[in-house]
Amino acid sequence: MIVLGLESSCDETGVALYDTSRGLLAHRVHSQIDLHAAYGGVVPELASRDHVRRLPVLIRDALADAGLALAQIAAVAYTAGPGLAGALLVAAGTGEALAAALDVPALPIHHLEGHLLSPLLGADAPAFPFVALLVSGGHTQLMRVDGVGRYALLGESVDDAAGEAFDKTAKLMGLPYPGGPALAALADQGVAGRVKLPRPMRHSGDLNFSFSGLKTAVMTLLRDAPPAPADLAAEFQAAVVDVLATKSLAALKQTGLQRLVVAGGVGANRVLRARLDTVTARRGQRVYYPEPALCTDNGAMIAFAGALRLQAGARGSRAARVAVKPRWPLDTLRAPEA
Ligand code: KG4
Ligand code: ZN
Repeated sequence: MIVLGLESSCDETGVALYDTSRGLLAHRVHSQIDLHAAYGGVVPELASRDHVRRLPVLIRDALADAGLALAQIAAVAYTAGPGLAGALLVAAGTGEALAAALDVPALPIHHLEGHLLSPLLGADAPAFPFVALLVSGGHTQLMRVDGVGRYALLGESVDDAAGEAFDKTAKLMGLPYPGGPALAALADQGVAGRVKLPRPMRHSGDLNFSFSGLKTAVMTLLRDAPPAPADLAAEFQAAVVDVLATKSLAALKQTGLQRLVVAGGVGANRVLRARLDTVTARRGQRVYYPEPALCTDNGAMIAFAGALRLQAGARGSRAARVAVKPRWPLDTLRAPEA
């Protein structure tokens, strides 16, 4: 059974074809980095317009890559939220229209479900249950994952997301958008600890996070005693990594689970990965990551989440109703009923 996956929730247009027996057949992503770079961040209206332009072309290209015709698609999965409303509507409108025209079910997918299931696309997939650390531009959450649609929130950021903190701090430091990768690259040339930043909520006793204070601390340093940019970047990254690693370990301890899945754009951070690998290995625990190409937004994770839901008994919808949820708590999802 072949599932078409469409993603347009933010600044990447993604299309993929996933076959429940043969795996991922094709996946194409178009990044809008160049489009938004001049503005220092994502401009929602420009994002929506570009998705409209790119999505049909990417669908055609993905079909050509896989050597498939539209008629061979058995279901259409698309990101229905959370994200930018206008951007979400592009994949939702296209997905519902295609599904109606092909007379196949449509599956509205939660973007973060896509991220957290994406490590299961790899050859070395983790078994359920596991703890998921979701670290993207919009979310920082620890989830207990018992199966598809069985998610319990363990903790989350009370203010900025980790990726948002990277992006805002990078902007303060005059680095180009997207700030996360730029700040991480600069940090490689610096030494953490030469300047001191706080580790917010590290010992708060719960599994919540707070990152907005870090940005303020950076602002104060830049105003009063500007350190070497590379050292500041390294210390900022170390502070975020310290907190994420401490809370991830605490989540494993609290749940008694041995497997940690890291998903979302910040999961691409090499220092975070190295730290998590080291601290878990010591305890006989393991960390799973999506393939590098599937860490940031893509259609493959959406097609895959749709396929898993279909296999678990979801029927999808044939209502051709276009509705998106810009805000959508992940732990309100339910497992498909067979
Ligand atoms: O998951 P994602 O592609 O989009 C959202 O759903 O938000 O995550 C994007 C976020 C951005 O904030 C970006 O700066 C951050 O992930 N990011 C990184 C790195 N690569 C991407 N942050 C730190 N280090 C990186 N290497
Ligand atoms: Zn994402």
